[in-house]
Amino acid sequence: MSRIVYVNGEYLPEDQARVSVFDRGFLFADGVYEVTSVIDGKLVDFPGHAARLDRSLAELDMPSPLTSGELLAIHRELVARNNVTEGMVYLQITRGAPEDRDFVFPDPAETPQTVVLFTQSKGLVDSPAAQTGLKVISIPDIRWGRRDIKTVQLLYPSMGKMMARRAGADDAWMVEDGFVTEGTSNNAYIVKDGRIVTRQLGNEILHGITRAAVLAFAREAQMQVEERPFTIDEAQAADEAFITSASTFVMPVVSVDGVALGDGKPGPVARRLREIYIEQSRKAAV
Ligand code: PDD
Repeated sequence: MSRIVYVNGEYLPEDQARVSVFDRGFLFADGVYEVTSVIDGKLVDFPGHAARLDRSLAELDMPSPLTSGELLAIHRELVARNNVTEGMVYLQITRGAPEDRDFVFPDPAETPQTVVLFTQSKGLVDSPAAQTGLKVISIPDIRWGRRDIKTVQLLYPSMGKMMARRAGADDAWMVEDGFVTEGTSNNAYIVKDGRIVTRQLGNEILHGITRAAVLAFAREAQMQVEERPFTIDEAQAADEAFITSASTFVMPVVSVDGVALGDGKPGPVARRLREIYIEQSRKAAV
């Protein structure tokens, strides 16, 4: 497979794309990213991802190198050049590559940001995991205090996925002060007596774009939503659970730390929300 990727204004074969060893993304994890899903060759929730990108950049005092219109055009161009019908577009913006390693931020007028985008072709709608559901384990949340900024500091989430794999599970939910914050790369939900419970927005979690859309659809469908923290005990006693993200949409969770939820199969609320999300996303994709 040789993809065409985007690097700083150029579309290049992936083996010809280059980023400096002094890039602050590489040396300091000084960068932000977005993952936007593609269905039927179109971008899902693009305005939400563009808005969150601007917010992440602003929180880190990085100027936006591209307008949202320019970003949309690059996303579309890459999807077209790589014939992506289903999958994701990954976007990363770092504070660029100054002349030398230095903790102090470089002057943005002298050091242009690094902008990289690439596509990942992958079946998302007919995912086998959506039929079986995921097993999650709990791990302590030891990430930094600004998880609302979508930075490329993903070492702990990556370790969390490995801890899950070693425990025979699919993913991990992170716990802080006794309450679940979120999944390693997704937002976490439980359902009890028809009520959907998910942690409220704050600096402790990423403000998921899929989360916002799914909660809006749930409320439109007259489902009860409670935005509050929940514990692992509460999750294990729940009727069902699920996660949301751009790469999984709505994905059922069937066990937490080895305890099966309900009948151990994907629950009706998760299934229904997945259907609604995919149906609505197909209509609204750009
Ligand atoms: N992850 N929480 C965390 C920590 C995440 O990394 C993600 C997304 C989410 C869900 O956000 P959204 O619905 O906007 O995708 C929540 C992406 C998919 C990733 O890192 O690949």
